[in-house]
Amino acid sequence: MDSLRIQGSGPLRGSVPISGAKNAALPILCAALLADGEHCFRNVPALRDVRTMGRLLETMGLSFSMEKNTVDIVGRPVGEPYAPYELVKQMRASVLVLGPLVARYGRAKVSLPGGCAIGARPIDQHLKGLEAMGARVELSAGYVNVEVPKGRLEGAEIVLDFPTVTGTENLMSAAVLAKGRTTLVNAAREPEVEELGRLLNKMGARVEGAGTDVIVIEGVEALEPVDHAVIPDRIEAGTYMAAAAATRGDVLLEGVTFDHLEALAAKLRAAGVVVEREGEGVRVAASGELRGTNVTTLPHPGFPTDMQAQFMVLMCTATGRSAITETIFENRFMHVPELNRMGAIIDINGRTATVEGVPKLQGASVMATDLRASASLVIAGLIAEGTTNVLRVYHIDRGYERIEDKLSPLGANIVRVSE
Ligand code: UD1
Repeated sequence: MDSLRIQGSGPLRGSVPISGAKNAALPILCAALLADGEHCFRNVPALRDVRTMGRLLETMGLSFSMEKNTVDIVGRPVGEPYAPYELVKQMRASVLVLGPLVARYGRAKVSLPGGCAIGARPIDQHLKGLEAMGARVELSAGYVNVEVPKGRLEGAEIVLDFPTVTGTENLMSAAVLAKGRTTLVNAAREPEVEELGRLLNKMGARVEGAGTDVIVIEGVEALEPVDHAVIPDRIEAGTYMAAAAATRGDVLLEGVTFDHLEALAAKLRAAGVVVEREGEGVRVAASGELRGTNVTTLPHPGFPTDMQAQFMVLMCTATGRSAITETIFENRFMHVPELNRMGAIIDINGRTATVEGVPKLQGASVMATDLRASASLVIAGLIAEGTTNVLRVYHIDRGYERIEDKLSPLGANIVRVSE
């Protein structure tokens, strides 16, 4: 298994291109299930999760090919609307095929994603929505079987208990081919949901309000294949912003949508980091002392849970104390013991981690069991004295395109070690 070997190496300087958004690309690729014909998706990040989604679509009979950052999919009627455990267990987001399959074929069998490293993550809201649209849902032997007795879903008003991101995306993708109007209340407002709405409308759907908490969808009879470029990855961008600030560097992120980064930018500024829009990019610079700053994760437009671990590392060497509260997932502090092994002082009490700033971290061999926690350990390695080995890099490869190749030109001393 590959690892990353990092030598603490001073401020990052230069510019870094930001890739397409993983969490936007995954539901978009699933939308190819909704229409036959040739789809072309551009600016798709070359990541493990994208390849896993490709394999899942291929098992259902679609053709999937990826050349650099362009994905060509030929949509055709699927053999069996079935997502096996072997693929779903590798990537929870596989559950995003559920909405399109039920919309198009009136039935689907999808493995339950099960618990994952960052919490229980049930899909009850996805299923509740499909039931409201006339589907019958049955759980057996680790699979969810969905069947629409009338053959076609019917529009409904669905009030979500929580603004779940993939739940909102699944229900949007289901409602576009339903009979009549669907209203999703308390919908997730993440930019990736808004992006899916844009994509579906390009395919001929009638979706209004994606990106707000009420989404109204008028079902249509059929959709068309599409050519679409994916929005930039705000979490990848945010990770490089945190790395730039933590190393007291000066980095220009190229090709980002600043509006998607407001909550993070506000907290970085509160900590004393300079964050400026510069053309189609964002410049992040820091020097000297940073201030301890409290953060609470919330659904968008609040502070993203996917940036919590990276922001925490930044706080490790800030002056004073910061309280970092995680409200989205119940078990998302797995980076904390690893950071403490590197000399950080972090105390967990329920959903809040309290960080006492220290002058320096020390390199160590560390390992994390989820994607963003692993990214936070890479940042920790950049600011630590000595050598840090981040093990189990495959977590990082799920969500970051060539992280070592993007950090090296900025002056980081980071190499991939294959075993
Ligand atoms: C998506 C993102 C993930 C991000 C998360 C929160 C993708 C592929 N993944 O994950 O990177 O961290 O949003 O921004 O886009 N919940 C329920 N019932 C449900 C659905 C969710 O109780 O039916 C709970 C979950 O357990 C969790 C919370 O809602 O506590 C948020 O989950 P959700 O928004 O669904 O996250 P994902 O869509 O899985």
